[in-house]
Amino acid sequence: MTAQQFIPKPYTSSIENGSFTWSSPSNIALVKYWGKKENQIPENPSISFTLNDCKTTTRLSFSKKESADDFSFEVFLDDEKKDDFKPKIETFFKRIEAYLPFLKQYHFKIETTNTFPHSSGIASSASGMSALALCLMSVEKELVERDVTLSAVERSFEKDFFIQKASFLARLGSGSACRSLEGDLGVWGKHDAIDGSSDLFGVKYPFEVHENFKNYQDTILLVDKGEKQVSSTVGHNLMHGHPFAQERFKQADKNLTDIISILKSGDLDKFIKLVESEALTLHAMMMTSMPYFILMKPNTLEIINKIWVFRQKTGSKVCFTLDAGANVHVLYPENECEDVLEFIKSELVAYCQKGHYISDRIGFGAKLL
Ligand code: PMV
Repeated sequence: MTAQQFIPKPYTSSIENGSFTWSSPSNIALVKYWGKKENQIPENPSISFTLNDCKTTTRLSFSKKESADDFSFEVFLDDEKKDDFKPKIETFFKRIEAYLPFLKQYHFKIETTNTFPHSSGIASSASGMSALALCLMSVEKELVERDVTLSAVERSFEKDFFIQKASFLARLGSGSACRSLEGDLGVWGKHDAIDGSSDLFGVKYPFEVHENFKNYQDTILLVDKGEKQVSSTVGHNLMHGHPFAQERFKQADKNLTDIISILKSGDLDKFIKLVESEALTLHAMMMTSMPYFILMKPNTLEIINKIWVFRQKTGSKVCFTLDAGANVHVLYPENECEDVLEFIKSELVAYCQKGHYISDRIGFGAKLL
């Protein structure tokens, strides 16, 4: 696949108005994406668990407008107009216009809600951008299906192509968003061992996954609910000219090779080592860039240490991973739910801002509502 293949034939059909609603989840990377080339092409492949409960629901209403000279849209979060979201969406529209040439022909109303609080420190970009990309793809699907100048085959929009192009578009909104469309694991970035993997879009992880990982749990400890200290864009850019960048990209590639056999065998000890090392490496990259950042907070470290002690004392297979922030994702197998939740409540919640945490688990991707 090349980006060119996502450019549609000119539409000859027209729809006056309509609306589509999609919900799409967030995801948490096990092997992290950090560093990109031009046009949101990742420097290394990544893999993530798709989440179940942390999600965005977006309703996109569209109506044909007289002139097609500019983008026209309004954005609402929880029924409140959000003009401060507009620049990000305008940038997104500019990036995807060549692939969805109808964009300037319509006025859009984008109404979105998240299941998690906006100021939770959980990035809504993965769920938000994937939900919006899917709504836009539903519009394109309808335009193509109604196009009588196309052959029956051209008009029938293959489900695989729909998801692939939605992921391709989501990637142009926020890189990691392209892994959110399907579950239970998503891969993004070309990797030799994964047929069909691509730098252009995310794909569903195609190999066998051991029972141990079924319904894996992710409890997100909200250590710091503030705005991100470093935007993803700035963070990714700091990998340009970073002294350890090339080694890091190689390591991520190897970790992806290794996680394939770990996911197959169900070896939780190896899983823990790989996942925790990935999280700390991500933060090590930030600490060693110029300028440098420490995005962990003292409470992040307290939690990590408590997890290590608990694991040593009990033999539990609980582990942690981190995003580009201070919050901690506590990952554990379903059969440890009771014990780990008890441990979280008695020992870790004290380190969360206002005691807040979110219980989530592996999910299966986006849904048309
Ligand atoms: O999707 P972005 O550009 O916000 O980057 C996200 C990067 C990490 O969340 C830190 C890692 C990942 O692979 O999701």
